[in-house]
Amino acid sequence: PVLVMDFGAQYAQLIARRVREAQVFSEVVPSSATVEELLAKNPSAIILSGGPSSVYAEGAPAMDPKLVEAGVPILGICYGHQLLARALGGVVEPTGVREFGRTDVRIVGEGGVLHTGLPEHQTAWMSHNDSVTKAPEGSVVTASSDGAEVAGFEDVERRFAGVQYHPEVAHSPHGQEVLRRFLYEIAGVRPGWTTSSIVDEQVAAVAAQIGDGRAICGLSGGVDSAVAAALVQRAIGDRLTCVFVDHGLLRAGERTQVERDFVAATGVNLVTVDARERFLNALAGVTDPEQKRKIIGREFIRVFEQAERDLKAQGDYRFLVQGTLYPDVVESGGGEGTANIKSHHNVGGLPDDLRFELVEPLRLLFKDEVRRVGLELGLPETIVQRQPFPGPGLGIRIIGEVTADRLETLREADAIAREELTAAGLDQEIWQCPVVLLADVRSVGVQGDGRTYGHPIVLRPVSSEDAMTADWTRLPYEVLERISTRITNEVSEVNRVVLDVTSKPPGTIEWE
Ligand code: XMP
Repeated sequence: PVLVMDFGAQYAQLIARRVREAQVFSEVVPSSATVEELLAKNPSAIILSGGPSSVYAEGAPAMDPKLVEAGVPILGICYGHQLLARALGGVVEPTGVREFGRTDVRIVGEGGVLHTGLPEHQTAWMSHNDSVTKAPEGSVVTASSDGAEVAGFEDVERRFAGVQYHPEVAHSPHGQEVLRRFLYEIAGVRPGWTTSSIVDEQVAAVAAQIGDGRAICGLSGGVDSAVAAALVQRAIGDRLTCVFVDHGLLRAGERTQVERDFVAATGVNLVTVDARERFLNALAGVTDPEQKRKIIGREFIRVFEQAERDLKAQGDYRFLVQGTLYPDVVESGGGEGTANIKSHHNVGGLPDDLRFELVEPLRLLFKDEVRRVGLELGLPETIVQRQPFPGPGLGIRIIGEVTADRLETLREADAIAREELTAAGLDQEIWQCPVVLLADVRSVGVQGDGRTYGHPIVLRPVSSEDAMTADWTRLPYEVLERISTRITNEVSEVNRVVLDVTSKPPGTIEWE
């Protein structure tokens, strides 16, 4: 793989995605990984990510200088550019000139391998205080900007390159081209990580892991578990049984979608468990978000274990399939040095006494890759292109205690919002639109001749590429108006609709 060393920036994930878009498999590794640990992964190249710190700051994450002796091609980006320059004997200084945001980058000379033939002036995204003021011995300067004399350097012979700007962000229009050239032309990596290769690889890995055993897969109604199930079914056929838990935290129509559409597409064995009572009881009186997530995660597993006992007659179900994705793994603290932001119920909330061995065929994939895998496996667009929906469901979209009545209220409001967004043709534009019920908040309204004292509904439409970062979607006013009018008219407990205009960060997509 290509290893992306995470020096603490949000950007490491994004770099990994861009590398994969160039059809090369990549993984994010913490900056604390030793040279031995890195080499053990047999990397075809290493990319040093940006980071928030100055290379001179106390406690700034360092790079082991031995890394440049290992014979592995290295690309440094931003902070990584400075680390690499320094490790190779170049000079990094706080010049007092900072550059943030869109910056004009000029090609120097021929521009080296990375910039050959690109426009002489290009816009690129910068974010730095210090600058490389002298390129390492033996390397050529390939780009320059007002604030960074050495905005790019490369040593083609030793297969090193650095860029001060961020080629991975969309604001650097030629960035993907620059990354591709590093991978293909400097590092000599061959593209081959395609959807069908992912499917073949994962099917083989699952077949090897499960052997002649049997597996259960929990279907949540979401894209991830559906694709994970379809993949495992391809590997082990009817030794897979899917268990669909109706935990009562589902959106309107979801149960039918699973019981009818998914089964029609895959022919998978499906057992539906009605656990609505059980979840409501377990959640009674609980208002703390992490508490809710842990309870829902725990109950889920308990229901599976019960299903497993019921299925014992057919054989020994030892494996549990989960649709865990790469961002879940990293955000749950799976990537060292990354803060635990929320315990996603399919990772952090697992109970200690788990009696299954986990099968997680999507553990290394991003959402868009999962969608492509789903289509490759023959799942219909209606399932594959569906908005992401969190495992804990509507349980984390009711702010306050979860009760049957509140769930009904939220379900109605959510159905209206989804219906109107789809009718307006906005499904492709928005990543997802959580609809949130502020169950503990009341406000005064007037309807007909009477005073009302109802709850607000929050609309949270977001645009995102992978849910790691997101922006609020600028929905047309007419669409917002229709949703608002319909919800306040049709949903009895609700007298106000508000719009969440927060990006991520600082907000997360879900409210809990
Ligand atoms: P946040 O709220 O962390 O959400 O910005 C990021 C994405 O993850 C989804 N999400 C979850 N998915 N189990 C899941 O399978 C969970 O516990 C969970 N929590 C959040 C969320 O809908 C968004 O797409």
